[in-house]
Amino acid sequence: MGHFFITTPIYYVNDAPHLGSAYTTVNADAIARWHRLLGDEVRFLTGTDEHGLKIAQAAAANDMTPKDWADQTSQRFRDAWDTLGIGYDDFIRTTEPRHYRAAQAFFQAMYDRGYVYLSKYEGLYCVACEAYYSEEEAVGGNCPIHARPVTQMREDNYFFALSKFQDRLLALYERQPDLVTPEAKRNEALGFIRSGLQDISISRSSLSWGIPVPFDAGHVMYVWAEALVNYLSAIGYGVNDQEFQTWWPGAHHLLGKDILRFHCVWWPAMCMAAGIDPPARLRVHGWLLVGGQKMSKSAANQISAVDLVSDLGRDAVRYVLLRQVPLGQDGDFSYEGAVARYNAELANQLGNLWSRVASVVRKKRGGIAPPAGRGEVLAPAAGLALERAKEAFEQLNPANALGEIWHLVHATNVMLERTEPWKMPPGPDLDEVLGDALEVLRIVAILAWPAIPGSCEELWARLGLPGSPADQRVPVDVRWGGYRGSVPIEPGQPLFPRRMEA
Ligand code: MSP
Repeated sequence: MGHFFITTPIYYVNDAPHLGSAYTTVNADAIARWHRLLGDEVRFLTGTDEHGLKIAQAAAANDMTPKDWADQTSQRFRDAWDTLGIGYDDFIRTTEPRHYRAAQAFFQAMYDRGYVYLSKYEGLYCVACEAYYSEEEAVGGNCPIHARPVTQMREDNYFFALSKFQDRLLALYERQPDLVTPEAKRNEALGFIRSGLQDISISRSSLSWGIPVPFDAGHVMYVWAEALVNYLSAIGYGVNDQEFQTWWPGAHHLLGKDILRFHCVWWPAMCMAAGIDPPARLRVHGWLLVGGQKMSKSAANQISAVDLVSDLGRDAVRYVLLRQVPLGQDGDFSYEGAVARYNAELANQLGNLWSRVASVVRKKRGGIAPPAGRGEVLAPAAGLALERAKEAFEQLNPANALGEIWHLVHATNVMLERTEPWKMPPGPDLDEVLGDALEVLRIVAILAWPAIPGSCEELWARLGLPGSPADQRVPVDVRWGGYRGSVPIEPGQPLFPRRMEA
């Protein structure tokens, strides 16, 4: 048991929550819930990024103050996360006083330690990214991410002396080989660091929608230089030392590959500059693609998370998001693919396992469940599923954990097809088969709870078990033999009704 701190990036408040942002958030939620099962004290942080030019422009276009605009749009994220059953502990907004305090204290700490200085800046800027690009990066005068023209900017800026951290970053990467995963992304970050680091501009004098630089009211902090600090603002940085030390530096940051450089290069260096340890883990993932393109506002190909939930159901969307594209890879997401996976793995595998077992119990045992069988074949399979799921979650890989759990579900269906309990006469042999399957269902209700909590709670209740899978502990409560039976069970409505495939 310990403390586990997990974060998502804070999402730009301008964007509607779509499946791309839901992807990161659902993965973080599953990992957080897994740690709750382990008995850890968990802090799961998400939120919205609300400063910068892009947001000021959107507010003006809507005839609103930036703050009113942000209040309205930030709420959409909370609503979407509620719809998806995201159990975050804290939702931070960068317009909150606690974030102002922490961001200013952090900026001041970097300045006091000699890593911030004033100079002139001239360069190519992408408003959508809120980032400067070099001539080589802005191919054809366009932003490499948004493929839209960059603009020439010139102003007095405070700079962060990133160039002084090259050796310290390389030493850090060596000391903490799992700082950045997967390996390919670690190498990409190392490539940036090795290629030589330039100081970066971290303030703007041309803009007012931001957090003032504490020692120079003529500047606001560049949005990335303060947004990253949200991870600290939420855990008492500069205010409550005891709280801060409880959670830091154990942070696990999930992030998309589009923001690798900010998180894997700037952020650890900024932490060192401010005199604190860098975060423990940076877990980089790929993009959800639609027809081969990144799902994004600029591409106008976003699938709304909320719409998909009303079509398929909350747990179906969670499951498919977790399983369809394992963290680390890019992968296509389509409605057809989602429905096909839902039918194959939820309806036909887990849902069907429950209906088959419950209906044989009804027909041959008067609806009274037998206790767990000896599990000659399935107990070792359940042990393996647990071990491997645990390993996958440790590697921050919920997709693989689900793969392992579904091997167990599949093995149980295969066992039923082999023994055909629906043809067996009542008696100890039948009870053994049914008891094994029921015990697997109990174990799966716990192990799959981080991914599909509502369905697992429902399955738990249908098994006649007291309490909730949420209150169980891994590994003790997933040891073979926990199911006592002797309770009435009913097949009921399908757990996962089949959906029409296109
Ligand atoms: N506000 C910054 C992050 C600051 S963190 C200190 C930002 N916001 S964002 O709204 O653009 O969202 C970024 C994150 O959303 C990505 O890194 C990724 O985690 C997630 N995704 C957004 N679109 C995505 C896909 N199409 N696919 C997968 N993840 C996506 O950058």
